[in-house]
Amino acid sequence: MILPLSVGWVIGSKSGGDHLAGVSGQILCPQCRKQNLPHARFCQQCGHDMVLNNAAPSDERRYLITRVIKQGGQGALYEGRDQHGMIYAIKEMLDHFTEARERSEAIARFNDEAELLQRLNHPSIPRVYSHFRDEGRHYLTMDFIYGEDLDELLRREGRFDEARVLFWADQLCAVLDYLHGKGLIYRDMKPSNVMIERKHGDVKLVDFGITKLFKPTERGAQIGTPGYAPPEQYQGLATPQSDLYALGATLHHLLTGRDPTEQLPFSFPPVRHLVPEISQRTSEALERALQRSPHDRFATMYEFRAALRPAAGIRVVAPERGEGARIEVAAELGQATQRRGPPATRPPRARPGPRAAVSSVVSQLVRLILIIMLLGGVLFGAYVYLERPAWVEPYLAPLLEPAP
Ligand SMILES: Nc1ncnc2c1ncn2[C@@H]1O[C@H](COP(=O)(O)OP(=O)(O)OP(=O)(O)O)[C@@H](O)[C@H]1O
Ligand SMILES: [Mg+2]
Repeated sequence: MILPLSVGWVIGSKSGGDHLAGVSGQILCPQCRKQNLPHARFCQQCGHDMVLNNAAPSDERRYLITRVIKQGGQGALYEGRDQHGMIYAIKEMLDHFTEARERSEAIARFNDEAELLQRLNHPSIPRVYSHFRDEGRHYLTMDFIYGEDLDELLRREGRFDEARVLFWADQLCAVLDYLHGKGLIYRDMKPSNVMIERKHGDVKLVDFGITKLFKPTERGAQIGTPGYAPPEQYQGLATPQSDLYALGATLHHLLTGRDPTEQLPFSFPPVRHLVPEISQRTSEALERALQRSPHDRFATMYEFRAALRPAAGIRVVAPERGEGARIEVAAELGQATQRRGPPATRPPRARPGPRAAVSSVVSQLVRLILIIMLLGGVLFGAYVYLERPAWVEPYLAPLLEPAP
């Protein structure tokens, strides 16, 4: 059943006006993903309904898809907007399971993710708005994060300097500590599940598909991602120390550029052996986090965070408006205190275009002409004052005559 829309649709974005969202006004069909005109209610290609959350609405929000962000076998991550023009990330799960048990488990995981996220409230976790089923697909909508995930950044940059990684690590420890405090184990820490906001360089944790309440006796089937997941997760057991290991593996990858999914399982040489300029302190902290036995790792996220946060070494300087956060690195890292640039995600400074160059030349010319006119006036005045030419007398005499 299709419910009519009760409100008019706003074309264009309300949040993040600097973003590509809604610029073209085109919308994508949820079925065939072909572009449609902004007002199309049914796809001009396949006739499918363009509006999401109107078949069996979970709330009053109705969504249109504007862009594909990521496409995977199980579904996609879209950018979309609601009837008021607000931008969201729309996570889709396709329901093309052949086995009933597989289907019900996947749907349960997807529903768990949405319900879990709706209960969480942390600056490093996107807020969830709607969670619904629409014509055989499952969707959840959340804050759209303007930025890139660490996997994309690694592909571009290779590896990152220590100060930057420790800046992210501090926030990741904090958000995992928050989850552990709620009895939750994240279970899938890896670069592609961490996004870095473009504006301030802050960290956001995404993908709570396999996050679960920690029950020490319960074993689960979900192992996380090979390469980052610790040995005990392969036996179906996940504890807070499992997240600590996966964070260690993620930080190891960020610092060295060595992808653990392409290496022998659970093999992490000390980071200083691969990148000698990394501090002893960080190298040792990662070695401890990456111990195969959970008991040999740090006991809590809090302890790991403290070990990575050299008291006198690194200070994160609050970002100024519109700037990336700055990091001050001190002697701990073997250098004098210096100001590091903003995070990698800061967009490059805009170069002047041809129109800007022309207008700058014109304004220089106008300035030059004004200066020449002013100088000419001064010289002419001096000439008249000193020489008193005959032709000027009729004009000058009335001015110089004393008033009656
Ligand atoms: N809220 C968001 N805003 C913007 N982009 C996002 C958001 N959430 C996720 N993404 C992007 O979409 C990608 C996939 O999202 P997510 O990890 O939740 O899905 P997934 O299907 O589990 O993917 P994977 O199996 O690769 O981990 C992320 O790596 C990230 O680049
Ligand atoms: Mg993911």
